[in-house]
Amino acid sequence: MTIVKDTNSPLVVVVGGTGTQGGSVVLALSESDKSYRIRTFTRNTAKPSAIVLSERGVQVVGLSLTANNKEAVFAAFEGAAYVFVLTATFSSGKHFDPGRETAEGELMIDAAKAAGVKGIVWSGLPSMASLSHGKYTQVCHFESKVRVSEYGRASGVPFVVLQAGGYASNMRTIMRPRKVAPDVWAVSLPIAPSAPIPLIDVHHDYGLFVRRAIEATVFPDRQTWAVFAEMLSSEDQVRQLSEATGKKVVFNQITSAAFVAGMTAAGMPVHLAVAFDELFAAIGEFGYYTEDAVQLGNCLGRRVRTWRDYVQVQVWDDVFDA
Ligand SMILES: NC(=O)c1ccc[n+]([C@@H]2O[C@H](COP(=O)([O-])OP(=O)(O)OC[C@H]3O[C@@H](n4cnc5c(N)ncnc54)[C@H](OP(=O)(O)O)[C@@H]3O)[C@@H](O)[C@H]2O)c1
Repeated sequence: MTIVKDTNSPLVVVVGGTGTQGGSVVLALSESDKSYRIRTFTRNTAKPSAIVLSERGVQVVGLSLTANNKEAVFAAFEGAAYVFVLTATFSSGKHFDPGRETAEGELMIDAAKAAGVKGIVWSGLPSMASLSHGKYTQVCHFESKVRVSEYGRASGVPFVVLQAGGYASNMRTIMRPRKVAPDVWAVSLPIAPSAPIPLIDVHHDYGLFVRRAIEATVFPDRQTWAVFAEMLSSEDQVRQLSEATGKKVVFNQITSAAFVAGMTAAGMPVHLAVAFDELFAAIGEFGYYTEDAVQLGNCLGRRVRTWRDYVQVQVWDDVFDA
């Protein structure tokens, strides 16, 4: 455990420490042989994940990082050597507003700049509009982050963009297998079965990439890093899931219309359902990362989990008993 309160150790401000990416950043920093002070924020300091962080020595501040809290956001970043910044458009933030996401990302970059940090690690995503040469322009929760990336690069503060691939845990949420016949489950998505998708066990491994940036001899200013463990097609994912669980899981490529109808029926706002549909289409036709995205390989301090590793350590009863 290397989370300390000693002011000789650098302060890392981690946005979203109670969540998936930020929680992984705290985990990776705590595994380092270097010592850090860590500060994070939550809208609810009484939640169990906030209490656990506090008990592990993290400074947990009750604060909503929104544009109407500008002064408090600036104060919250004071003293930081490095910041990890993310925005949460549609996860536990649930505001579904890309314009708000961009504004909040830019506010945090302004706050980090005012604090005089040595580097900003930003959880960005690629532009599907650029990758597809203008064919897929509706992936709003990606484009909102692309605007923050541009703002950060123009800020003059050392700035690296980390672009996460698909979460392995999506197989328990948006990609969840549904029972289609006795003893048969199907994953149904609007993408070709053989199209490679970048995957990462975010909870376990995302923070290793952030730690790598913070501990680099020279901060990787202006770089974009591809954050994934492996590229794997949907048909290979369900095959390995079947092998690990002993359940028959198949992959169905469905139409855009069927996908959007299913997502909206499940309560997703239509603009997000369209965004996900275009995202799958764009990955299938154009891939995910641009050529300049740096792939780090085996220099992360420990091995990252493959999809096979992930499915083997998960308990899947809740998925297959449903
Ligand atoms: N799912 C995927 O495959 C995938 C892939 C790549 C990128 N992403 C991106 O990942 C991002 C979500 O990150 P995540 O998975 O780590 O989300 P998460 O697990 O839902 O956690 C969100 C974190 O943000 C904090 N937060 C949200 N709104 C806040 C606010 N107003 N003020 C202060 N803190 C706030 C939450 O804190 P409290 O709840 O404690 O307040 C929580 O710690 C999204 O932008 C998504 O686009 C997802």
